[in-house]
Amino acid sequence: MHVPVQPAPAALDPLFTALDTEIFTDRHLANLAAGTLAAVRVPGFLSTPHCQASLAALDRLPTTGYDPRRVPTRIARFGPALNDYRSPDGRLDAARYWPASESAREAWHRAGFRPDPVAVALGRIGTAWGVAVAPATIGGRPVFGGTLREINAGALVHYDDINREFPTGVFDQDIVTQLAFNLWVAVPDAGGATTVWRHRWAPADEHHRLTYGYQTTVVEHCQRVRLIPRLGDPLLFNPANFHAVEPNPGGCRIAFAFFLGLTTTGQLITWS
Ligand SMILES: [Fe+2]
Repeated sequence: MHVPVQPAPAALDPLFTALDTEIFTDRHLANLAAGTLAAVRVPGFLSTPHCQASLAALDRLPTTGYDPRRVPTRIARFGPALNDYRSPDGRLDAARYWPASESAREAWHRAGFRPDPVAVALGRIGTAWGVAVAPATIGGRPVFGGTLREINAGALVHYDDINREFPTGVFDQDIVTQLAFNLWVAVPDAGGATTVWRHRWAPADEHHRLTYGYQTTVVEHCQRVRLIPRLGDPLLFNPANFHAVEPNPGGCRIAFAFFLGLTTTGQLITWS
């Protein structure tokens, strides 16, 4: 007798979920660092008036960058990311980075964020961890943290891992795990979702390489969570998991962003 073979139900990791919570806790941070939890959000973290105040302060920042499809509309992009100052051999181009870092720091203070959403976020994460979050340092000098990025055209599937980007190390501190933080202060009506896949880089992934990221085939069969940006919501996730951003057809998607690193001595440090 012919017995039809039922397809096996998809095996899912029950721990790989996106959690909405009232406050960040040390357990959330530990689970994200361990890679079991997919993402944590805190709805209403920044009130709508505070989001609006942040957007108003943005106008006082020297943001750079233009969207080639919408020239001459300006796209908000503020603050140096270490990755943009990386030499081909995986070292920091210090001669370019430090002046950009210093002028960003000065511009940030001049803009007068009240409250400063990055400071608020770092304060709450430090409270959750039990120790204040400190900036990552290079030769004792603190790096810049707290970039602002407007992403309307989406971002390719990619991962972020400072230990691979700078294989000989870049900070005074050694990092065992990296987390990514985004706080939306402007969101589109549709699109702009962030997807996080339960997949970490493997050498064979390079067969799917596409400029700075990967073709979607690289995560085709992987479990995922999809997070729609909501005004004032922060998102914390482990960026070693492959992630991507969908384009938004209209509106603006603007977020404050920084990374957190868990060091070998159990400290949390931050950079962008
Ligand atoms: Fe990323």
